[in-house]
Amino acid sequence: MSRLRMGMIGVGGIAQGRHIPSFLELKDKVVLSAVQDVNEERAKEVAEKYNIPQVFSEYEEMFKEVDAVTICTPNKFHAEISIAALEAGVHVLCEKPMAITTAECEAMMEAARRNNRLLSIAYHYRYTPEAQLAKKAVLNNEIGDPLVTRVQAMRRRKVPGWGVFTNKDLQGGGSLIDFGCHLLDLALWLLDDPKPVEVMGKTYDRLSKTPGQVNDWGPFDHETFNVDDHVTSYITFENGESMQFECSWAANIKEDHTSLTISGVDGGVSVYPFELYQAKYGALLDSTAKIREGEPSPGLIQAGNFVDSCLGEDELIVKPEQALKVTKLMEAIYESSQKGSSVKFN
Ligand SMILES: NC(=O)c1ccc[n+]([C@@H]2O[C@H](COP(=O)([O-])OP(=O)(O)OC[C@H]3O[C@@H](n4cnc5c(N)ncnc54)[C@H](O)[C@@H]3O)[C@@H](O)[C@H]2O)c1
Repeated sequence: MSRLRMGMIGVGGIAQGRHIPSFLELKDKVVLSAVQDVNEERAKEVAEKYNIPQVFSEYEEMFKEVDAVTICTPNKFHAEISIAALEAGVHVLCEKPMAITTAECEAMMEAARRNNRLLSIAYHYRYTPEAQLAKKAVLNNEIGDPLVTRVQAMRRRKVPGWGVFTNKDLQGGGSLIDFGCHLLDLALWLLDDPKPVEVMGKTYDRLSKTPGQVNDWGPFDHETFNVDDHVTSYITFENGESMQFECSWAANIKEDHTSLTISGVDGGVSVYPFELYQAKYGALLDSTAKIREGEPSPGLIQAGNFVDSCLGEDELIVKPEQALKVTKLMEAIYESSQKGSSVKFN
């Protein structure tokens, strides 16, 4: 079978840090054949560095030469470029979040359906070994029906000072849309996509709007900073489950931590680190896992699943309707914070 011809759109940090190395490692199945970036100088440099033969200044031209693309531009362009690619008959792996608004996500899904092309989103936390174990434990009914999920995606004083992360027009939001979205996606996936009923959300920006911040991830301009740096939310679901969610780029806490725990009827699971809490044999029983070194990276598994799905050899793990749900919840959190009251779904 011939190899999948892959193009990269937007060749900055994540393209070079994760996607390009992963596709290069899968060289038996995929050929990284083209790059495009509005920064043409960067596109040329990247093509040269990674031996990628074609450089395009317009993505429409690239679509004639590739079977699939990975989109790694600022969030504002995810929908527009994905739809253009799908309409041109090209499969799409788009960076997270799927898009800034639910309406954009729906238009992307519609374009994928209409053109019978694949669309997936790079929610790579699902491919971490701990998340894979947790998914198997939940599917294997180790915790029974889930009841309460707690999510914390917390960084101490680490506003990304580079790129466009603090620009609302280009990104749509800050800590929630950039970092919290990963854990929100992971939680919904582990819970098997429960239907949200009501969302209460509160967003903060006061810390980062204050001049002279001590920030571990480089300087940023507090005056132009116009996104959230800390977000809390309480979400209820139709099946009676609830989720306590918190994320931050810049909390005043002891140290960074990422945690996701689900307490179920028969047991509980923690993802980072992976632990299982059960009551068995008349005792409280805890299980831990030794994550072996040398496992394929989440980026490589993600790339492999996308390539295999495009070649008709596998099924997408991150489905667009799931990623849309994450954007819908984030939109509701922002709306709830702005209104000062909860948002209810029909
Ligand atoms: N999955 C993850 O963990 C993860 C991590 C970082 C970033 N991201 C996502 O990846 C995307 C890019 O982030 P990054 O950190 O690589 O940013 P970056 O600023 O390093 O790179 C973005 C690149 O896109 C180019 N670009 C901008 N507008 C464009 C357009 N209209 N068409 C083509 N190219 C365009 C820029 O010139 C730049 O080279 C964002 O959506 C971000 O949320 C995901």
